[in-house]
Amino acid sequence: MWSVRFSLVALASAAAFAQQGYSPADIQSGKQLYGVNCSNCHGPNGDFVSGVDLGHGSFHRASTDNELVAIMVQGIMGTPMPPANLSDQQAYQIVAYLRSLAAAETPGANKADLAHGKSLFESKGCLNCHRVRDHGSRVGPDLTSIGARRKAADIQRSIVDPNAEVLPENRYVRVVTRDGATITGRILNEDTYSLQLIDSKEKLVSLQKADLRQFEFLKNSPMPSFRDKLSGDELSDLAGYLVSLKGL
Ligand code: HEC
Ligand code: HEC
Repeated sequence: MWSVRFSLVALASAAAFAQQGYSPADIQSGKQLYGVNCSNCHGPNGDFVSGVDLGHGSFHRASTDNELVAIMVQGIMGTPMPPANLSDQQAYQIVAYLRSLAAAETPGANKADLAHGKSLFESKGCLNCHRVRDHGSRVGPDLTSIGARRKAADIQRSIVDPNAEVLPENRYVRVVTRDGATITGRILNEDTYSLQLIDSKEKLVSLQKADLRQFEFLKNSPMPSFRDKLSGDELSDLAGYLVSLKGL
């Protein structure tokens, strides 16, 4: 039977930690410590070890923060999970990071908030560029499974600051053809000789690379920032709705 032993030091720092809650600085340090000590086995999202999922707040062998710390510090006897060389404080920072992943997954998601998020998505013009299942436009990326790919915090950032990070597969290009036509659009497909774009009118354009005079990636996202168009609550409900979209 696996047992948990606590040192007095661990209990004392646990109490101090619980009082402070998880500060952004702890979460940030925890993220780095996780990257160095854990991600080679558990993967960046905590789901590489089969049967173990560190990113969603439910564990087979632990429920409290203290139990998680004990697992990290002691390892799990008889399994490949080794004891890590971490101070108690560092171990709590990793817990803070793992809890933050789980919290980002379900930002207080109750039904009313999700419904509110969905109606914002429909009323704020998002569907003019995005698609969810069979509604909306293909000018921007399809968001049907955005929640399976990105966390609430990243989604919020995409909404208020679209230029902060544009994923490589979402980059827009501007091409000029031999006969001088300029076309801007999102790349759907590309091979050595040809390129398929979806242009700003949602039209599929197929081009031979040999016919292009110029080709450049756009630095800025075509998506407008919604920073001043959404209140804090609206932003979090909208992101909560998008996080709930995990596929068909
Ligand atoms: C050498 C590979 C390896 C490293 C490094 C490693 N782990 Fe693990 N860990 C495992 C394996 C394998 C298991 C599954 C053990 C079992 O139950 O069979 C596991 C299990 C766990 C569990 C229990 C999961 C559950 O659902 O109860 C937690 C929590 C955990 N690891 C956290 C961490 C953290 C945090 C770190 C970094 C400090 C870390 N591990 C480093 C291999 C590793
Ligand atoms: C004028 C078109 C346009 C409008 C309107 C628009 N977007 Fe976008 N959006 C884009 C484009 C293009 C991208 C891809 C480039 C980028 O990442 O900024 C994008 C990217 C995103 C991403 C990141 C996608 C990914 O794959 O990670 C999210 C999330 C997003 N938009 C949400 C929204 C929401 C929510 C709204 C409404 C409040 C909205 N967008 C309105 C065009 C638009």
